[in-house]
Amino acid sequence: MNFDSEQFNNVNTAFSRQSVFYDDYDISNPTLTWMRQQVRKHALKFLKPNDKILELNSGTGLDAEFFASKGYSVHCTDLSDGMINEIKKKFSSVSLSDKITIQQCSFTELDKIGDKKFDFIFSNFGGLNCISDLNEATKFFPSLLNKKGRVCLVVLPPVCPWELIQLFRGKVKFAFRRLKKEGTIANVEGVKFRTYYFSVKNVLRSLGNEFKLLKLESLAVFTPIPQMEKILKKFPGLIKILNKTDEKLCGIFPFNRIGDHIIVTAEYNAN
Ligand SMILES: C[S@@+](CC[C@H](N)C(=O)[O-])C[C@H]1O[C@@H](n2cnc3c(N)ncnc32)[C@H](O)[C@@H]1O
Repeated sequence: MNFDSEQFNNVNTAFSRQSVFYDDYDISNPTLTWMRQQVRKHALKFLKPNDKILELNSGTGLDAEFFASKGYSVHCTDLSDGMINEIKKKFSSVSLSDKITIQQCSFTELDKIGDKKFDFIFSNFGGLNCISDLNEATKFFPSLLNKKGRVCLVVLPPVCPWELIQLFRGKVKFAFRRLKKEGTIANVEGVKFRTYYFSVKNVLRSLGNEFKLLKLESLAVFTPIPQMEKILKKFPGLIKILNKTDEKLCGIFPFNRIGDHIIVTAEYNAN
């Protein structure tokens, strides 16, 4: 393995610190709530009844809880000690726990899952952006998927209009941070680690020829990104209009390749 263990340790520490208030922040931010709804709507279109889901970087299990409530079984995995603690707490007390299994595991070590097979591999909100080469995760997908299994990966792309226009406010570094090949330094709860940005082309190349693209969508091309909380709170009416604009255009070229996140859904077509 050629992973920088410092990067993984820092990712673990950062997200462990964040894990204790992760859900409160997520629920209180209207754009995050809206983006999560969009991702779930997208995923539900490609899930079949009784599908078994493998969730990568599942965080505190917000999406796992949603999918379990819809009747799907979800195997949750995450690297972070804190996130794993939070998922365990969440599912020790609710009735959905029979639908959920939890394993602390990096998506670069998915062979640790053993010989279980899944119908749907799901990764939300940029967990995969914590590695420089997506192949380190996607190389495991064929051995984990049933025939015609699907993957739904939500990643941060290099082009985000709301970040680029910060150039006009003199924030040159911030505006172009996603375009750097060597990634950029993220600071989560005072812990720094590297973040890398992936285009649709990067994602599809890492999946390889055995995967057929089913759908591309974007999140927040027109809607200000979740970190722009001041705008979100000042103009709630305008934000609703921008949400609707995104919903209309998010699946159409070129809008489906840019934004705060992109959703790439593909099907495994092995012989
Ligand atoms: C922004 S959070 C997203 C969590 C969740 N998917 C959600 O939608 O709320 C990113 C997550 O990726 C996880 N992560 C980062 N690198 C990882 C890795 N190598 N393997 C597994 N999880 C990882 C972090 O621990 C964190 O829980």
